[in-house]
Amino acid sequence: MLEGFYRDRWSLRFVEKVCVLGAGSTKYGKLEDSITDITIQASIGAIETAGIDPKEIQAGYISNVFGIADKQVHLGPVIMSNLGIPEKPSLSIESACGSGSVSFREAFANVAAGFYDAVLVAGVEKVTHTGTEWTTTYFSYCSDFFYEGGAGASFPGLFASMARAYLTEFKATEEDLAMVAVKNHENGLLNPKAHLRKKITVDDVMKSAVVASPLKLYDCCPFSDGASAVILCSEKFAKEHSKNYVSVIGSGRGGSPATLQGRDHMTTIPSTKIAADAAYKMAGITAKDVDFAEVHDCFTIAEIVDTEDLGFFEKGTGVQAVREGRTARNGDIPINPSGGLKAKGHPIGATGVGQVVEVFEQLTGKAGDRTVKDAQIGLTHNFGATGASCAVHIFKSV
Ligand SMILES: CC(C)(COP(=O)(O)OP(=O)(O)OC[C@H]1O[C@@H](n2cnc3c(N)ncnc32)[C@H](O)[C@@H]1OP(=O)(O)O)[C@@H](O)C(=O)NCCC(=O)NCCS
Repeated sequence: MLEGFYRDRWSLRFVEKVCVLGAGSTKYGKLEDSITDITIQASIGAIETAGIDPKEIQAGYISNVFGIADKQVHLGPVIMSNLGIPEKPSLSIESACGSGSVSFREAFANVAAGFYDAVLVAGVEKVTHTGTEWTTTYFSYCSDFFYEGGAGASFPGLFASMARAYLTEFKATEEDLAMVAVKNHENGLLNPKAHLRKKITVDDVMKSAVVASPLKLYDCCPFSDGASAVILCSEKFAKEHSKNYVSVIGSGRGGSPATLQGRDHMTTIPSTKIAADAAYKMAGITAKDVDFAEVHDCFTIAEIVDTEDLGFFEKGTGVQAVREGRTARNGDIPINPSGGLKAKGHPIGATGVGQVVEVFEQLTGKAGDRTVKDAQIGLTHNFGATGASCAVHIFKSV
């Protein structure tokens, strides 16, 4: 397994330590430019921060789910051509809402193995022009369609089932879930690139329209357009180009049964635990060493479940942590300082890469007003569908 390989053979010359050298992102929200244009804008941002010539990029990993909605699939070669490097190989990757982190992982593995010195990882989605009905239907194709989407269970409905189970099992309240939304909207307000920049109260959440009980409008992430990109490279390459980079110290992937009904419990996501265990093992740390995390809060209930599965809190106590402000930006384990999927937005192919952009900015002093104080280790957690696929990455400042 790569986890063992990367760790045990760290010292061998042909296995490289991997770093993030540059990061760029468009604003998330409703965007006018084409899917190609926004991917290029984010990629140029990453290339410029990295301070490299595009010709130094040796391969591209392009993450996207519904390019078809903007009449462009096979994005890899299109992006490489627009960057003036059509001869460089590329891979277009789809893994539902987890596509970005899966692309990052594939790029990481190839740089770690010494195949490439520097690569581009870019994620993008452009769907808002299609409207809620189209997008809800197409997103449901990311579930096991025979059992879930095709039977009428869209993602708000599936996460509502998880929420109902959690509230019942752990005697939590809808107000507890609302507090996650309030926190993430507060963080999003400080993020100039966030989709929803609006302060809200628990009362606002409770009075917002019911989408799938117990989830209301403000418990849900929005449909967003957006693109994010990073330059991933060997430590040697990073040192030659900049002093302002971060190390990737852990990478883990995991899977869960594709349907909720196939799982033993509704209040935990097995793939998160598997991916996190692998990433902690590779990094040689535990959850206690993490200073902040960007987690997959597609719905408020997901953030609670994630923080427990990642080992930050015991099962059933994630809500208590939110009540006590422990996950706020100035808490002991800040969660989603960017605003998360809830407020920053969720352009599904871009999300996992966008989380890495946030960690890079936090650890290199570029996060402005939303900076997490004294942070040295950041974690990203991103999954596809209800967690059928998942990747966790851990980063350290240098
Ligand atoms: C919640 C949801 C159904 C709302 O869709 P909608 O009712 O069509 O909403 P609209 O796009 O018409 O927007 C109506 C208003 O609500 C706001 N809004 C939309 N979604 C919002 C959200 N999730 N949170 C807060 N505000 C939201 C819009 O900005 C708009 O405000 P305005 O009138 O002031 O401009 C939709 O955002 C949704 O399904 N989200 C989940 C997406 C998802 O499943 N992603 C995959 C996760 S695994």
